[in-house]
Amino acid sequence: MRGIGVLLLLLLASHSLMAQFNPHGKGTDYREHYRGQFHFSPQTGWMNDINGIVWQGGQFHMIYQWGKNIRHGGYATSPDLLHWRDRGVALIPQKSDLPSTALRNVSGEQVYSGSAVVVSGAVAKGITGSEKEAIVAIYTGTGKGTCLAWSNDGGEQWHDYPNNPVANRMEKDYPRDPHLFWFAPQSKFVMAIYENGTTFYGSKDLLHWEFLSNLPFGFECPDIYPLPLDGDPRQIRWVLQDANGSYLVGDFDGTTFKPEQQPTRIMDVGPDFYAAQSFQAGSLPNNDPRIIQLAWMDHWNGGIGEVGWERNATFPVSLGLVSVEGEKRITRQPIRETASLYQNDRKWGAQRVPVGKNLLEGIRAKQFDLTLEVDLSKSKALTFGLQVANDYLIYDNYNKTLLSKSLTPDARGHVRIRLLVDWGQLEVFGNDGRFSYTQQFAFAPDEAGIRLFTDGDLAVVSLEFHELKRCW
Ligand code: FRU
Repeated sequence: MRGIGVLLLLLLASHSLMAQFNPHGKGTDYREHYRGQFHFSPQTGWMNDINGIVWQGGQFHMIYQWGKNIRHGGYATSPDLLHWRDRGVALIPQKSDLPSTALRNVSGEQVYSGSAVVVSGAVAKGITGSEKEAIVAIYTGTGKGTCLAWSNDGGEQWHDYPNNPVANRMEKDYPRDPHLFWFAPQSKFVMAIYENGTTFYGSKDLLHWEFLSNLPFGFECPDIYPLPLDGDPRQIRWVLQDANGSYLVGDFDGTTFKPEQQPTRIMDVGPDFYAAQSFQAGSLPNNDPRIIQLAWMDHWNGGIGEVGWERNATFPVSLGLVSVEGEKRITRQPIRETASLYQNDRKWGAQRVPVGKNLLEGIRAKQFDLTLEVDLSKSKALTFGLQVANDYLIYDNYNKTLLSKSLTPDARGHVRIRLLVDWGQLEVFGNDGRFSYTQQFAFAPDEAGIRLFTDGDLAVVSLEFHELKRCW
């Protein structure tokens, strides 16, 4: 009897860790070749876009596109944005290819991308029937339109809103990818959706939507958020971005986005950055003002031969907006919480590094955070760089490029290069996030050497190395 009781308890406990359905079987130890040790990836199967990311009930929640043939709402939670637990599939569409024991709980043939907000009171009641705080996911149900699903028990059970779609009846697979946010000055929700570029709709209750405006900008998965220019909270600008990471800087007045006169820029120049979403401004705990962003680490251009799962999320970054070269540009920097994963720290001070000397000699690591600062004005090198296992990251001091992309030195003639390296993931940041380059990379699994190399005298200002603890 007692044994059965314990078994039941265990079953209940394991069930309560899952959302609607566990497609992952016994799961995995996350030690496969190329599997990120501090990056989120689904336990098994395919992932693409980041969808709803919210803070609710004392934890972070993430819905993401899961399932290679039929898209579902995969679901994960985290206490700190570093340690994630994949909780299975929350949103299971009508055409699901999961076993019939997986209840088809939402509208549409497939669940395409969207976002999420946290609501309570009357808005919650109109959707869930209760004033209790709820996560409301807005998604594109293919063949249907813009739909809502919700959970008010912290993500254990997910329910569809019965009168879906709430907007944008869908012909074929368009419009799609609604991004929701609360526009406080007018006490209303705004939806930015991929429709003839980007179209804005407004609503007081998430159920009734009115057209606000359209902007011929953007391809798939819009996101929009306010940022203080150069860190000055009196200088707020709005940023509108699409799935490619192309962005406009301007103003949003609750109806219309008015871009400033400057070229469209791209916030990440690497090959594997797509469909990023951010936590809504002001929605993080402890009045944290940051805009934290996660993206899908791919660009519909193939993987690196992962086995057991396919693709992963980028490491969370904090976004900034800075004036540079007469423009306003986005900066992306790994969240400061990264430091809580540091171990085996090493630091080097200012010194001249001659050809043939490797400051990193003897260090072996496959997951680390490294920052190199070089004074170009005092260096003779034409090229220098870092070798990580079988990859070479080269700075070309003649063309002022890193990885063949522009990274100009700061006013003092310095460049700072920061690498986040994981077993199959590479993120490179330059000059405090003005440069951002995201790439899946098949680091040779058995190689863990790191080398700083140069073809001429190099004026190193500082070098810092931190191994990162694994998060699974
Ligand atoms: C972008 C995208 C979205 C769509 C989703 C389907 O990567 O094509 O537009 O909603 O993927 O998985």
